[in-house]
Amino acid sequence: MEEIKHGPIGVFDSGYGGISVLANLIESMPGESFVFLSDSKNAPYGELEPEEVLNHTVTNVEILNSQAVNAVVIACNTATSAAVQTLRSKYLFPIIGMEPAVKPAVNKTGSGRVLVAATDLTLKEKKFASLIESIDHQNEIITLPCIGLVDKIEEHGPESPEVDQKIDELLEPYMSLNFDGVVLGCTHYVLVKDKWRSKFPSDTVFYDGNEGTVRQTIRMLKYYKQVISNCPPARVCIMDSSQNDDRLAQCKKLLMNQLEVNRKISMDQLHIELRKTDELCKF
Ligand code: DGL
Repeated sequence: MEEIKHGPIGVFDSGYGGISVLANLIESMPGESFVFLSDSKNAPYGELEPEEVLNHTVTNVEILNSQAVNAVVIACNTATSAAVQTLRSKYLFPIIGMEPAVKPAVNKTGSGRVLVAATDLTLKEKKFASLIESIDHQNEIITLPCIGLVDKIEEHGPESPEVDQKIDELLEPYMSLNFDGVVLGCTHYVLVKDKWRSKFPSDTVFYDGNEGTVRQTIRMLKYYKQVISNCPPARVCIMDSSQNDDRLAQCKKLLMNQLEVNRKISMDQLHIELRKTDELCKF
């Protein structure tokens, strides 16, 4: 095993979705430093070609590398599908990826019907086919490529009525069916989990990969002998490929909203800075 230096934890997504993962990471490691980078200039990834997603992801992880990160969490199911293997062969520090939480969903629901909502690319990639093949299950699994949803979240914001309308439109063909479980296989959808919940009966169980990703990140940091600080404040440096100040302010607002909703840490336990991608995070 190679030795890695202590440093901030890099967190990457195409856009706002990764903020839902970042919030959970901060809550579990409230004394650590994080660099969050979103690639809104090129989002949404879910409707691009795999090679394009690979190239964008490699470029962005290199930006995180230049901030001397000790690990990178790819807080994006789509980018993980297209790029995780390449990234793991390129860097010595751990790269933690995400996949739709189909395993816990089928384990819990026995023989029930499960809906897996994800981007078109995630559902088309080999990684998803291998995931389904690897699970011994009796369930009926229905996949829902949510074309256009990430676009609405990015363009109008997670709280907007346009997002609601889009989810209604996507679910329309399935509304006569009962689902025992719903997997939100894209971090953007986790950011709007309440909207998804409102479309299903209250006993429908929702699954996502966020908490599993946090656990895996902690496992990997320990494996690489990193000392994890739980002593606040957490420090977060936010960057976005658009270099747009309004966008950065919106990312900060969404992170604070998410942490306030979760109520696990208080805001005075957090320092946030906003930076351009060619600036150094100060912490
Ligand atoms: N958050 C990304 C994911 O988990 C969204 C992908 C996109 O940009 O379409 O897949």
